[in-house]
Amino acid sequence: MKFFIDTANLNEIKAAQALGVLDGVTTNPSLMAKEGITGKNNILKHYVDICNIVHGDVSAEVNAVDYDGMIREGEELVDLHPQIVVKLPMTKEGIMACKYFSDKEVKTNLTLVFSAGQALLAAKAGATYVSPFIGRLDDISTDGLALVEEIREIYDNYGYETEILAASVRHTMHIVNCAKIGADVITGPLSAILGLLKHPLTDIGLAQFIADFEKGNK
Ligand code: E4P
Repeated sequence: MKFFIDTANLNEIKAAQALGVLDGVTTNPSLMAKEGITGKNNILKHYVDICNIVHGDVSAEVNAVDYDGMIREGEELVDLHPQIVVKLPMTKEGIMACKYFSDKEVKTNLTLVFSAGQALLAAKAGATYVSPFIGRLDDISTDGLALVEEIREIYDNYGYETEILAASVRHTMHIVNCAKIGADVITGPLSAILGLLKHPLTDIGLAQFIADFEKGNK
């Protein structure tokens, strides 16, 4: 399973990269705004900065909602760096733009996916990644992980190569459960990834090993 970090914060991206398990980055306009990155030129430069930190795919989202605008923005994003993946909203125009880019062998990520039907369309349009938002479904008392399971079943039925990128991951158990049901990728905050390290018995056991080593080597 690939690990992407879902942030535009360069320090967090550097920390995840330093851990040695990072496969890519996802961003969105809200995450950019959270870091105070505004204005077209600053946003484009920020994508390049991110690409220069990580080795894998970096999803950069278009802001246009019309087809021509998505194509224009997507092409501009792709020209920035070879690691850029064009992130498109799950709308009719987004699906059409996805088909346009996949025909040109440009990587795409269909975002804001909340149903199996949307994921099926994304695969038909040749998306590289489909992003079901599991945390946001959980937020409205719907089972986000069940959607990932449904998409897995559909994609496996037909051998679709679109990768299931479980997005809106909020905590460590989301990652573990996504791994159990066969998501190809998760994207979440650094805290959720670091949470995988934690177990009290590891801490207790290590403290004991250190104490015993120090006793015997005084
Ligand atoms: C995915 O690509 C999105 O950027 C993201 O996962 C949204 O997560 P949120 O629901 O925590 O905002």
